[in-house]
Amino acid sequence: MDNQNTQEPKSYDISIVRPQMSSADFKMRGQGMEPARLEGIKKGLLTLHTLELMATTIYRFQITGENCDFNRQLIAAMCNEMTHYQDFQIKLYEYGFKPSIIRLAYWCVGFSFGFFSRVFGRKAILKMGIWVETKAVHHYAELLKTIDWDEDTRKVIEKDQADEDGHINKWKKLLKEQ
Ligand SMILES: [Fe+2]
Ligand SMILES: [Fe+2]
Repeated sequence: MDNQNTQEPKSYDISIVRPQMSSADFKMRGQGMEPARLEGIKKGLLTLHTLELMATTIYRFQITGENCDFNRQLIAAMCNEMTHYQDFQIKLYEYGFKPSIIRLAYWCVGFSFGFFSRVFGRKAILKMGIWVETKAVHHYAELLKTIDWDEDTRKVIEKDQADEDGHINKWKKLLKEQ
């Protein structure tokens, strides 16, 4: 399925919410890389890891206790963001880096966005989702363009960007139905 909201559409199967990983997918990375390249990768991974925590937290606090398809879709999106968060945490450690403690501030931002959009109802939840995901897709594009990623990490970023694009399309469709 092509992602429609990015400048360079690539094919990734976004129906897979949580891709399978085997032991061979984990690698120690960065050996022999130039310090400037490593610095770029570190900054990029820290940014992505932090933003995915925010995304996970937004969806988490948008979910209500109601037994409905709307909540089912929010739960799937939350799971997808948790997968992205895992993706970048794994890559940070594979490179010998550590997550940023500052990301906790982004948890608070995610909580505010999620909780307050929930208070205002479904349309607010969907508009919030579209706004945040659109920012994410552009942010991903910028990081893909400006950082010299290793091939495995680049593919992970592209798949995650395609997922965000899928979220935008899903929320836009749902918003029309409201
Ligand atoms: Fe994400
Ligand atoms: Fe997303």
